[in-house]
Amino acid sequence: MNKLPDKLSKEEILEIELELTGTCNLDCPLCSRSYENAKHLIKYNERSVEEIKKQLDEYPNIEMCCMAGIISEPTLHKRFLEIIEYLRSRNIAIELYSNASVHSEKWWAELATLMGPCDRVFFTICGSNQELHEKYRVNSSLEKILNNHRAFKNNCEHPIDTLQHIKFEYNSEDFESKEMQAIRARFSREENINTLPYNERFKFIEDEDNKIKLSSELARSYNLIAKNAKRRYQKNKSGEMKCQMRCKSLEERFVAIDQFGEITPCFLYRIYNGDEKFNLDYTKINKFTYDFCYECEAVTTQMLEDNGLERMG
Ligand SMILES: C[S@@+](CC[C@H](N)C(=O)[O-])C[C@H]1O[C@@H](n2cnc3c(N)ncnc32)[C@H](O)[C@@H]1O
Ligand code: SF4
Ligand code: SF4
Repeated sequence: MNKLPDKLSKEEILEIELELTGTCNLDCPLCSRSYENAKHLIKYNERSVEEIKKQLDEYPNIEMCCMAGIISEPTLHKRFLEIIEYLRSRNIAIELYSNASVHSEKWWAELATLMGPCDRVFFTICGSNQELHEKYRVNSSLEKILNNHRAFKNNCEHPIDTLQHIKFEYNSEDFESKEMQAIRARFSREENINTLPYNERFKFIEDEDNKIKLSSELARSYNLIAKNAKRRYQKNKSGEMKCQMRCKSLEERFVAIDQFGEITPCFLYRIYNGDEKFNLDYTKINKFTYDFCYECEAVTTQMLEDNGLERMG
């Protein structure tokens, strides 16, 4: 495996994750924003479009911009459509994750006209009826999402509307139901994921107990990987073993920008090490300085990938 560099320049960054508001209109129980450990990040702030553009202009080679925000709803930014126009003008592919519960059908129709063929818009639906859907998507109306989705799809030239279903123990069966099949058929694409909330990961993060359970199959394979991962990580630290770090941010040339414009290599760094300013220097990360980097140890990363899982980072 090639040795990864210790530093990147802004020119080398290819992917950006943009947090736009720090706030949300829903209250999904296992969302990153719901944990005690992440509460200090939940500060509402909206930067001006001019400030956001100026910062992104410093990264001339961005190919993809993910607009999810790990603790917020991107479409709550008051000038969201202008940000989309800017990204499109630079030919940057957009991945938008939204709860699709804000704005009118007219707004969603307008957004649709701005999007390009390489973009993706993810609409998350976690149940085939209101009762099941709102068990996780608390305060969300299934009907409103479906109407906004229809307005988007009907006005978009490209088949980029994507259904995202998050699998939990409570909605596994519902996914195969006739009603859910009908919802799935309304979308051009689907991308279904298993939940793996960050406090379940490696159990080194202590936080509130999760009331909604991840699927038992996933819990089993994850716990096996976790045991081995922790052992490897600790042996490396004590010098008994020589491991290699595969920082996801470094490998993928990815950085996250928060609602204040601060950059971090990933969400975990932002939660646990946010006071240490990050300037694209990965030396300390590569030296296994931070315990939250468990999943990016090379063998662990490979084991996660072999089981169809992604590193959190
Ligand atoms: C934190 S959200 C922010 C974007 C937007 N508010 C939304 O919900 O789509 C980013 C992504 O995480 C997903 N997500 C939320 N809770 C999750 C969980 N427990 N497991 C996996 N993904 C989750 C959301 O569905 C969304 O696709
Ligand atoms: S809508 Fe998105 S940001 Fe808001 S609570 Fe749910 S997952 Fe989190
Ligand atoms: S967890 Fe650590 S090693 Fe992994 S992406 Fe984040 S900073 Fe990099």
